[in-house]
Amino acid sequence: MNFLGIETSCDETAASVVTDQTKVLSNVVLSQDELHSPYGGIVPELASRNHVISINYIIEESLKRAQLKIKDIDLISVTQGPGLIGSLLVGLSFAKGLAYTLQKPLIPIDHLEAHIHSVFIENKDIPFPALALLVSGGHTSLYLMRKKLDTRVLARTRDDAAGEALDKIAKFMEIGYPGGPVIEKLSQHGDPKEFDFALPKMSDQSLDFSFSGFKTAALRHIKTNKLNKKNPQLKDFLASFEHSVVNALISNIKKAASQHFPESLILCGGVARNKRLRKRFKELAKEQGMHSFIPSPEFCTDNAAMVASLAWEKYNQGEKGKLSLDLNAYAQSSY
Ligand code: KG4
Ligand code: ZN
Repeated sequence: MNFLGIETSCDETAASVVTDQTKVLSNVVLSQDELHSPYGGIVPELASRNHVISINYIIEESLKRAQLKIKDIDLISVTQGPGLIGSLLVGLSFAKGLAYTLQKPLIPIDHLEAHIHSVFIENKDIPFPALALLVSGGHTSLYLMRKKLDTRVLARTRDDAAGEALDKIAKFMEIGYPGGPVIEKLSQHGDPKEFDFALPKMSDQSLDFSFSGFKTAALRHIKTNKLNKKNPQLKDFLASFEHSVVNALISNIKKAASQHFPESLILCGGVARNKRLRKRFKELAKEQGMHSFIPSPEFCTDNAAMVASLAWEKYNQGEKGKLSLDLNAYAQSSY
């Protein structure tokens, strides 16, 4: 069976065809980064308008790369939420129209569940229980997985997401958007110990994350040291900031591992592309005698292969999908 996946939750227009959970025939992602870059963040209306312009072409391209025609598609899956409502509605409406025209079943997909599932595209058999850390621009959450599709939330962020913190500092320093990759590049030769950022401490022993303290500390360093994008200390400042965000993530997953004794650690979401984080995550797993799994970079940031692959898993576990035209987008997720 050929599964088409469509993803438009934020600022990437993406389509993919998979025939199996691990068999990706095409994975096309059109990023709007350049469009939003001058504003230092996503402009929701621009994002929706550009999804409208690109979606048809992106789906056609995903079929072409899979060497298939639209009539060869057996099931359609689409991100239903969470995300920017205007953006989600473009993909969802398109998917509903397509399903209705082709008279094929439609499976709506939760964006966060798709991110968590992205790791199975390249790793069919992950030893359970597993702890999964999802780090993206909109979310930073920790999950306990007993098996595929069985995910319990252990912790969330109380304020900003990790990616959001990186994006905000990059915007403040006017060094570009999205902030994560820009900071990674500019901080490559910086000293991560030069600037001090205290690790957040939760008074109630919870595993929740918090990144707002880092932001306040960053603004203090910027003011005291008169930092700007031309300052030679910029690379040290950015390296220290990135290092602290990674420290906070690693410290929480370490604490969670000591409470839940997982067999595997999973890292996913856009920030999981970060080299420093990937390295520290693998080191932690090794040190604790656990397996570690991180998707290839193309499956970390928003993509539709994770949507179609999750639909494949759901379908094979009994969810048949339906031709429901009353599906609506949602902004908040239970994941
Ligand atoms: O998963 P994603 O594509 O979209 C959301 O669902 O939010 O994640 C986007 C986030 C952005 O905050 C971006 O700055 C961050 O992922 N990101 C990175 C890297 N590449 C993307 N953060 C750190 N290092 C990277 N290499
Ligand atoms: Zn995402």
